[in-house]
Order: sequence, then C-alpha cells, then structure tokens
Amino acid sequence: MKERIQEILEEARRSIPSCESDKNLEELRIKYLGKKSCLSDLLSKIGTLSKEQRPLVGALLNKTKKEIEQLIENKKVALKERSKASDVHTLDVTMPGRPFPLGAKHPLYKIWEEIEDIFIGLGFEVAEGPEIESEYYNFDALNTPSWHPARNEQDTFYLKGGMLLRTQTSPMQIRVMEKFKPPIKIISTGRCYRVDKVDPSHLPVFHQVEALMVDEGITMSDLKGALDSLVKQIFSPDTRSRFRPHFFPFTEPSAEMDILCINCKGKGCKLCKNSGWLEMGGAGMVDPSVFEEVGYDSEKYTGYAFGLGIERIAMLRYGISDIRKLVTNDLRILRQFQ
Ligand code: PHE
Repeated sequence: MKERIQEILEEARRSIPSCESDKNLEELRIKYLGKKSCLSDLLSKIGTLSKEQRPLVGALLNKTKKEIEQLIENKKVALKERSKASDVHTLDVTMPGRPFPLGAKHPLYKIWEEIEDIFIGLGFEVAEGPEIESEYYNFDALNTPSWHPARNEQDTFYLKGGMLLRTQTSPMQIRVMEKFKPPIKIISTGRCYRVDKVDPSHLPVFHQVEALMVDEGITMSDLKGALDSLVKQIFSPDTRSRFRPHFFPFTEPSAEMDILCINCKGKGCKLCKNSGWLEMGGAGMVDPSVFEEVGYDSEKYTGYAFGLGIERIAMLRYGISDIRKLVTNDLRILRQFQ
C-alpha cells in the first residue's frame, strides 16, 4: 500500500505542475482529492491493515494528501499569474476606442422647449390636454357651428361617440377657463391632427402652441407685444411682425400674424413666395360668446389667444424646406439641425 501511495504522489508531482489550464487542474484535483479518488479508495481500505500498520499508513496518506493540495494551490496561483501577464500582451493600447453615440433632442422638441421657456419667462403657466377630444371642446364651445367647414369629415378625423382627434390646441382654452377663474395666463403645447395629404408643408399630425390670457383690461396690444417678444427671441431681435385681418370663430377681432421674411428681409424670395412676409399663425381677442360658454362675465373680462404651428417655426429656424424631413427619423438629416 505504501508503494501505491508513493506511486500516486510521484504521478501527481509530474502531472500537476505541467497542467495547462484551470479546467485541467480541476480535473486533476478531482482525480487526486475527490470523493472517488484513488487516495480515498486507499483510505477506505485502511481497516484491512494490521494494527501496527494502520497509523503509519494513515499518516502517510494524510501527508500525501497535503502535498497534493499544496501542488494544486501553487499551480492555481501560477496559472492566474500567467493569465494576467498574457492580458497585458493582448491589450493593444493603440487601438481606437469604441464610439459612444450621444443622443440629442429632436429639432422640433428643442423649439417646443424654447417656446415654453420664453412664455414661462413672461409669467405663463403650461397646461396639458387630451389629444382625443370631444366635438364640444374642439368646436361647439369654441363658437364653431355644425355647418362650419372645419367640421367637415374631409378636415377632421372623427372617432366614435362624438369624439375626434383634436384639430387644434384651442380646446385647451375652454378646459382651462372651465376650471379656473381669471386672471388666466397659460400656454398649451401639443399634437394636433387634420386630414391633410402629406406634402412639403403638410403632415396629418403636427404640433401647435396655444396661448390664452384673460383678465380685466387685456387689449390687442398685449397680444401684439407677447407675439412680437416671442418671434424676436426665437429668430432675432430685429425680427419685425405684423397683423393681418383674418377670421376665427372664437376670436373677435381675429388676425393672422406674419413676420418679415427672415431670408430676404422683405425683398421677396422663394421662401416667402415673393410676398416679403412669412405667415406664423392665428390670433385674436377672445370672442365674448366663448366667455359666456364658460360662465365668464364678458363685460368685465377681455382676453387674447393665439395658436402657432411648431413645425413651421422649427423649419424657419433651421432652414428646413420640407416638413417631412422632421419625421423621417433619418439621423443623417436630423444631425444637420443640431
Ligand atoms: N386654432 C387656430 C388654428 O388652428 C389658431 C388660433 C388660436 C386662432 C387661437 C386664434 C386664437 O388655426
């Protein structure tokens, strides 16, 4: 038995130091020290020896086991050292780093935030409302009778049960006035929907920013001042604006605001279709019938409202000629507007 133990030890002394991998080493550990190893086998046979032999062989077995454990431990350390060293050799410090793509805000969203910031700076609060609206808020309460062409199915996406996809952010005027008493000073920004063929200046889904200010003694010059301040901050301090008479069912008087063409400064060019002016959006003084609808005293209060298309502003600001570029999600295009 002593010879057998000696043989095993010799073999372990040869095989463990020459082993090449952690996996291999683990196999050897199981072979020599595991439950079914030859050493365990010998240990279980110790009872068959004579009384004098038992302690001697037992001690030898233990000593052998300890030595093999040590051999394995040493090899483990050596293998670890070697793998560390080889890591250094395979690390090529001249290799270029991995690119870390950085996200950026969409140009439309940047303008959206800028407009909100400008109005927050003027003391306005931001109100949010639903995109799925009722006919009441989108049309009736805004003094838009059933025969009005905007209510035509060719212009509005109707849903079931008197609901629709809002065609404008103006229903927020009603929702806010229903809830709060004057003074009111809010803007509301969001998605709107209209049945429009997609072309370079139309999308069926677009964004508007609506403003509403109601108090005693609000006049058209407050409206003009707010809009003028907005376009000067969005475009440049020398931007000129003008009002043109217009009609909206929920404002009286109503106006369309233009800015002097930012490209040709009024001389006439392709951008302004030779008119020298660029249309910005609708505005006006809140119609007394709208005040009556929400229970405001139209003798006491006056107010203004306007609604601007955000895509239009983003396109002018970033020189985008085709509205579709804003929704293609093509990074090569969007990166140009960062
Ligand atoms: N809601 C109108 C539109 O979409 C714009 C508007 C808003 C006009 C507020 C007047 C007052 O065309």
